[in-house]
Amino acid sequence: MSETANYAQLIAQLDLEAKVRLLTGATSFTLAGDDSIGLQEMAFSDGPTGVRGLKFTGGEPAALFPNATLLSGSWDVDAAEEVGRIVAEEAERQHIHVVLGPTINLHRSPLGGRLFEAYSEDPLLTGALAARYVQGVQAAGVGACLKHLVANEAETLRNSVNNIVDDKTLRELYLLPFEIAVEDSNPWTIMAAYNDVNDLAATEQDEINNRIVKGEWGWDGQLMSDWSATKSAAPSANGGLDLVMPGPDGPWGDALVAAVRAGEVAESVIDEHVTRLLRLADRTGALGEGRAWRDVPGPDSTERQEQLSRLAVAGMVVLTNDGVLPLASDAKVALIGRHALETMNMGGGSAQVTPPYSTSIADGFAAAGIEATVVDGVPVREKALPAKAAVVKDPVTGQPGIRISFADDQGVIAEVHSLGSTTLVGLDDDLPRRPTRVTLSAQVTVSGAVQLGVIGVGSWTLTSGDQSFTTTLSVDSDDPAAGLLSPPTWSTVVSEAGLVEAVVDLGEASMAMLGLVAGPASRDADAAIADAVRAAAEADVAVVVVGLTEEQETESLDKATLALPGRQDDLVRAVAAVARKTVVIANSATPFLMPWLGDVDAVLWAGMPGQEGGHAVAAAVLGEREPSGRLVTSFPASDGASPAWEVVPTDGKLVYSEGPFIGYKGYYAGKAEAPLFWLGHGLGYGSWEYASPILISDVAAPQVRVEVTNTSARASREVVQVYFVPEGADEHVRLAGWAAVEAAPGETVAASVTCDARVFRSWDEDAAAWRVLSGGELLVARGLGDIRGRVSLG
Ligand code: BGC
Repeated sequence: MSETANYAQLIAQLDLEAKVRLLTGATSFTLAGDDSIGLQEMAFSDGPTGVRGLKFTGGEPAALFPNATLLSGSWDVDAAEEVGRIVAEEAERQHIHVVLGPTINLHRSPLGGRLFEAYSEDPLLTGALAARYVQGVQAAGVGACLKHLVANEAETLRNSVNNIVDDKTLRELYLLPFEIAVEDSNPWTIMAAYNDVNDLAATEQDEINNRIVKGEWGWDGQLMSDWSATKSAAPSANGGLDLVMPGPDGPWGDALVAAVRAGEVAESVIDEHVTRLLRLADRTGALGEGRAWRDVPGPDSTERQEQLSRLAVAGMVVLTNDGVLPLASDAKVALIGRHALETMNMGGGSAQVTPPYSTSIADGFAAAGIEATVVDGVPVREKALPAKAAVVKDPVTGQPGIRISFADDQGVIAEVHSLGSTTLVGLDDDLPRRPTRVTLSAQVTVSGAVQLGVIGVGSWTLTSGDQSFTTTLSVDSDDPAAGLLSPPTWSTVVSEAGLVEAVVDLGEASMAMLGLVAGPASRDADAAIADAVRAAAEADVAVVVVGLTEEQETESLDKATLALPGRQDDLVRAVAAVARKTVVIANSATPFLMPWLGDVDAVLWAGMPGQEGGHAVAAAVLGEREPSGRLVTSFPASDGASPAWEVVPTDGKLVYSEGPFIGYKGYYAGKAEAPLFWLGHGLGYGSWEYASPILISDVAAPQVRVEVTNTSARASREVVQVYFVPEGADEHVRLAGWAAVEAAPGETVAASVTCDARVFRSWDEDAAAWRVLSGGELLVARGLGDIRGRVSLG
């Protein structure tokens, strides 16, 4: 079949029930086929940092990419397209038709738990990167999915929150990345968000879904719901939603058939949804003969290692540097911090994958031949982690992982599985959905004192040797996915553990995430700091790795503070007080506070760098590759000092009262104390002088040319940024374009920046139409904290 296939003829062969059956998923991540019309099953997979496959946990290994904020840190649309191409290969390897990404919500408040999945606080940067990513994915016949339409910038009460956003702000900020990506790359699917927007569920937004996206923008793809986001039958079917996910249950089915029969939904509306489904199937090769899947490199192939390491370094940002970076290769280093040993290479929630391996910074330093004394840091988590598969064995088979059995309400063992992982999830199609009792057992091989515990909602009895513990765990959240995405955890320290059995009675609860905790007991923070100080005093350079964890950077939860968890600030201060030189590596996707910034000699922001993380950080620190990234979001100076901060709804509403003035737009307008670092900031390892910029053309999309000179002794890459300052206090400053250039030491090169016409518009609420902005000024800058030139417009 082809794009020109006559879908109407196929649809005419189906009765109403058969059509409606296709409009809800068949399982958690698949869609039903229909042999009578040659429609094959389709498979969907998350997501933004790797193609996880159909299982939530314990699936086949998949390549773990640098997280989105790190990828976008390169400000490189070619790299975004390359990432899309690799994502498509990962999908093809697993026979996946649609990848559920990119996430293109904006970084509104820095507290948003899920910002690590999304590119930036700026809509143009987000839209431009997304468009090229989508082009990369779809060139291989795999669908991409823009998510989440729209105004889904925080996680608190995400299923019920009513986000109040004025039309100007919606158009100029939150819809703009979707508009750019639709116009420039025609994504085959979009996902409608959990939240309400201006009193109406995102899945029911006739105005946004039908009139703007499908009408005004002419988008012909399929709009699916976020998982369990659909709240109704007729209003969502009429409101532009084409597909309910997941399945097989959901609010459509018989209720939608009845709504059609009752005249609440026209059958032509159903046909339109099926048309879009068939178009997706056609595009992804699931209509007619079915598709051939290419042979592609494995997730641990040398090709992937090279790509993922290179992409990670390109986005890393040198925030400050007195010259200590790049490190001298013979420097005697003290490498300090929990994140040095347990590097956070990904965030939490549906964006997680099971990588083939994941290199820590300590591994990376060792592999690069850096002579380092490695010292574990202070504890950084409140909750204990699931056991590593290497330290637990199935007591029957002796294989790494745990053994689980499921019992029904009569206590009869229904199924037994041996799992290579130490957690399991009820969403996974190969596990029973509603067992009454689950038993997890393992032989624990940790020596010395053991942190032992359980993960997941239910009433637990944990037995280890002759010790037995009971606990009942629950979640306090309205998010039905909270038990899966942020499960409760209980643990204790025992002097030794051998054969361990954990039995959970689920009661009425459906099975979400369950797991076993087993690992070496954590050391006391004071002792860790004392060890770090000793090692730092003896080294030439102390490299302290600090950061956030999946307790902050996760789906389903927001942060309450930007302060580093645990006593990491104390650790940095103590080390900086004794070390000759102190370098801090920031291992987080999003900003945190740096009260010790003035005490240290360099800060390298390394993002959450994916499976090649340790190697990438080592290459950046040694200068084998330049960490030439620029920030994609502003770093606030203190808690609350951000133009948009609050993420907790009041009476069910979260009002975007700052309007379009988020991030740098708000700082520039003086709506918050100046940030610690601006969007666009990043030093690389070069230094640059700018000549006066010249306006080449000032038509709708102005073009600016500026000569820049690399005044450093190293070859370097510069990202020349152009911002548009419109006339009028109601208008916000906008990133209007950028260009990256490379230059040898002493070399002068010309950067030519063509601005994007879509930011020279203002949404006129009265006329409900765009108005082209004229006049104003263009700023040439390295982030708005470092403006290097100005030109006036018209
Ligand atoms: C997330 C989506 C994701 C879906 C499927 C939801 O909880 O919001 O982004 O694609 O789960 O895993």
